Amino acid sequence: MLSIGQGRYLFLLDWIGTPLSFMNAFRFVIYGAEGTGFMIERAETIEQNALEEINQTADAGTLEEIRVKYMGKNGLLTQVLRSVGQAAPQDRPRIGQQVNKAKQAITESLKARREALAPLGKSAKASIDYTLPGRRPPLGQKHPLTLIREEVTEIFHEMGFGVVDGPEVELDYYNFEALNFPSDHPARDTQDTFHIGDAIVLRTHTSPVQIRTMEKQQPPVRVIAPGRTYRHENPDASHAFTFHQCEGLYVDKGVTMAHLKGDMTYFARRLFGKNVQVRFSPDFFPFTEPSVQYDFSCVACSSRGCKICKNTGWLEISGAGMVDPAVFGFVDYDPEVYTGYAFGMGLDRLAMFKYGIDSIHMFLENDLRLLGQ
Ligand code: PHE
Repeated sequence: MLSIGQGRYLFLLDWIGTPLSFMNAFRFVIYGAEGTGFMIERAETIEQNALEEINQTADAGTLEEIRVKYMGKNGLLTQVLRSVGQAAPQDRPRIGQQVNKAKQAITESLKARREALAPLGKSAKASIDYTLPGRRPPLGQKHPLTLIREEVTEIFHEMGFGVVDGPEVELDYYNFEALNFPSDHPARDTQDTFHIGDAIVLRTHTSPVQIRTMEKQQPPVRVIAPGRTYRHENPDASHAFTFHQCEGLYVDKGVTMAHLKGDMTYFARRLFGKNVQVRFSPDFFPFTEPSVQYDFSCVACSSRGCKICKNTGWLEISGAGMVDPAVFGFVDYDPEVYTGYAFGMGLDRLAMFKYGIDSIHMFLENDLRLLGQ
């Protein structure tokens, strides 16, 4: 019989059926008394290999595989631990100590690595799912005033009108003087003007664009000029410090009041429907003669009388008239040759009637409940 120590003998018995233990036991037999040293050495090697593998890993899944490989039920370190019982009793504490040290080092290293990888792993895994369909960015919507401006512009395009623009910060000359409002004219009082300097104002209407356009071109002129205007009026449901108008100007040989009435009526019916009536009544503006105010029959109640038309059956749109010859004098048009009509219309009012909006202030509030409709 081989002379083997008790520990070695037990160890030999135990390895049957476990191939790795077989190797260990085999080496135990070969190396004899060095068996204890071997187990310690083995625990050290396992620790070293495990730590190296852990540090080279950048993936949480692989970390788990490493844990199982070394410390799982049949892990390499577990096997060494299991065989401690087979070593000589006096050697067991030393081996056990080494195995525990390895176990602790591997556990800590796994934990540290897992934490180091966690933010990466989490954000990559949890927040991006590449299989989901894309999210549409909210597109927003056109403001009701933009919608009405586009619609008005389109109708006048059909009628042969071009679109022109002018500054909101305007010279007194264009806002008043050349429109035949001399500086001491009482009609200026109707225009609640914001003055910026001696000769500069925030335009109170879009009519100055008439002058700027006629200065630049000879008749025939057929343009509209939509844009923003300003007045310091007392605020109420239909008055705000800023609002929008659309100017219209048609100058040519032989333009008459009949053109104005016909064109306005066509426009009203294109915008609000074919049953709309247009009413003209006498008014005064320094730059038109004769001047009119024009109203559309109420689109909300078909002229029966309601809150919107204040029970009159009519909606006041704005002023109009035949271009005053004095205005032609400012732009060097010959009033003996040319005539023209001009009109203004409140775009905010048109939008309020068209979309059933109660207050002009809602256009300025940017409330998404209105804008999103
Ligand atoms: N500009 C005038 C106003 O705002 C309206 C108007 C325009 C009148 C064109 C006549 C011709 O009150």
